[in-house]
Amino acid sequence: MAIDIEAERVVERASFREMRTVDVNDVIEYVHAGIQQWPTSRDLYDKYAIQRWNVQELDFTQDRIDWETKLSNDEKEAFLYVATGFHHGERQVEVDLWPEFMAIDNDEDKIFLTSQMEDEARHTIFFDRFYREVVGYDGEGIRGVLHQSYAHATPGLVGAFAYLTHLGDRIRQNPEDRHTLVEFIAAYHLWIEGVGALTVMQTTLNFCRRRGVLPGYYQGFNATTRDESRHVQFGTSVLHRMLHEDPTYVEDINRALRVNLAISSVAAFRVQYEPLGYTEEEFQGIFMNQLMRKTRAIGLELPQDILEAAQNVRPEAFGGG
Ligand SMILES: [Fe+2]
Ligand SMILES: [Fe+2]
Repeated sequence: MAIDIEAERVVERASFREMRTVDVNDVIEYVHAGIQQWPTSRDLYDKYAIQRWNVQELDFTQDRIDWETKLSNDEKEAFLYVATGFHHGERQVEVDLWPEFMAIDNDEDKIFLTSQMEDEARHTIFFDRFYREVVGYDGEGIRGVLHQSYAHATPGLVGAFAYLTHLGDRIRQNPEDRHTLVEFIAAYHLWIEGVGALTVMQTTLNFCRRRGVLPGYYQGFNATTRDESRHVQFGTSVLHRMLHEDPTYVEDINRALRVNLAISSVAAFRVQYEPLGYTEEEFQGIFMNQLMRKTRAIGLELPQDILEAAQNVRPEAFGGG
């Protein structure tokens, strides 16, 4: 599905308040339309300056009422399994982004990454507020609330982020290692953000639209989805550029995909998507679509074993960042 110019303009320029009514499906298309234009890191930084929003402006009063009175227990349970991947994911990328910042050697890229770090910190606060004010968790500081929501963390979430932390640690030990940097960028911007994040955004935000619930969550997370357009476009642009410089980096990207697909094929329990309005097959279809659109845009021809692994994986809600 392509986005028309007018819808793209609406997404691009919407104020934070207007993100309450902008269609999330248009925002998802906006992410992909931008990839093909190969924006520079300066372009993306300039967009950040316009699209940045204040998490303090959100009002969760109606969300709390909806949570208490409109959502069934099954809906809440499914929602928490899917949303928790983001609650933990945002915090994890906020602390794991800096090895990439350290290793990347281009000033424009570093400047862009300062904006992404600020985005991820703001997203972390957004989820902290949502879990406190709507779900009703408490605890000391960011970590206290994370500790409570860990009950809904899936093995796929833990695995994908543990792998990212491992790659970040290898970059810390050897910042000159470009191959590990490419693997890190593929694991973060391509897999966690480009596939996991956008799948969760599309499913939970469409659930809110269909059910007419959680307006504060919709506004904040829809704005988060638009922020994600810059993160995904940055990552795919850097990968595209680096592959042009040295085609052997393709093996590092493939490795990141193989590891993450293997992690995603392990499940200690199955998340139920039906209460959110999706069958497992539909969830799988959205996931595959997200993966294929990004790899095609970069010009990657996925080897047969990766394609088969992607077809067979029963994706869990592994979250995003
Ligand atoms: Fe984020
Ligand atoms: Fe992100």
